[in-house]
Amino acid sequence: MRTSWQIWRDRRGRLSPLRGGALVLLLMPLFKALYELDAIVHGARPINELIHRAGFWALVFLGITLAVTPFRHVARYGHLIEVRRMLGVGAFCYAAVHLALFVADQGFDIGKAAYEITHRWYLIIGGTGWLLLAVLAATSTDAMVRRLGGMRWRRLHQIIYAVALLALIHYFQQTKADVTVPSFAASLFGWLIGYRVVAWWQGGGELSTRSLLGLTIAVSVLTFIGEAIGIAIAFHVSPLRVLSVAFDFGAGVRPGWQVLAAGLAVVAIDAVRSRSRTARPRTVAAE
Ligand code: HEM
Repeated sequence: MRTSWQIWRDRRGRLSPLRGGALVLLLMPLFKALYELDAIVHGARPINELIHRAGFWALVFLGITLAVTPFRHVARYGHLIEVRRMLGVGAFCYAAVHLALFVADQGFDIGKAAYEITHRWYLIIGGTGWLLLAVLAATSTDAMVRRLGGMRWRRLHQIIYAVALLALIHYFQQTKADVTVPSFAASLFGWLIGYRVVAWWQGGGELSTRSLLGLTIAVSVLTFIGEAIGIAIAFHVSPLRVLSVAFDFGAGVRPGWQVLAAGLAVVAIDAVRSRSRTARPRTVAAE
């Protein structure tokens, strides 16, 4: 049997390359920060830089957690489900570090930090997302899954969609100028939620290659439209003018193209895997 802290071992106590790989992935941002420590320490605002990094990685691992269900279907690799909870808890760990660094930035004055969190909109939203994520992390142990029962546990963990929405709003709100990266992040989350909506619409199960292609094109078009409307409102310009620069790649690749490329890569993997002899994993509708 595995001791509970040996998260790189499977239930039988054997070394698990999948769990070990997930752990290395979760630790990568930490190694990256250590490698760049000198530049961070000598930067303009080291703590602020670390706050940004921790928040960014919390969001990335939240996205990776949500990507497990679609990707295990697309890649025909059902075992991925074994690391989903681990990745979700990892996202919470980065969010916890993010909050701890924020408190440190307030001179460890808990009262001042609490005042800020309850009086600024972007922090109220981030704080609400944090609390919900904490509930998910706290109920992610085997004992809690058993105690709640599979159905109630799954229903409770659908809160993750609210967490993703709040985290994205928080990300947009604190971004001062260029919203390209938050827009790309939002479109990827849109794809991941869209996958579930289409699966539910079709009565549960996996999406065909054609449905994946349709979803990718729809999310890409919506991203172009959403970005054009957002920029039009923020900078009082015509949304058509914003759309007209979509093909001007000299000014950067718009998030609509980025999500199209990412989605097409998924479609290609699905097409290749559907031709391979590998058996499809068990269909799980409510993940
Ligand atoms: C009480 C909870 C939270 C507090 C106090 C907080 C605070 C902050 C602060 C101070 C910033 C930098 C703002 C600036 O420099 O103007 C920030 C950025 C950010 N936060 Fe949070 N946050 C919280 C929760 C969360 C959660 C739950 C997530 C995601 C799961 C998150 C993701 C982010 C992201 C992605 C950024 C931007 C990072 C970047 O610039 O790349 N935050 N947050």
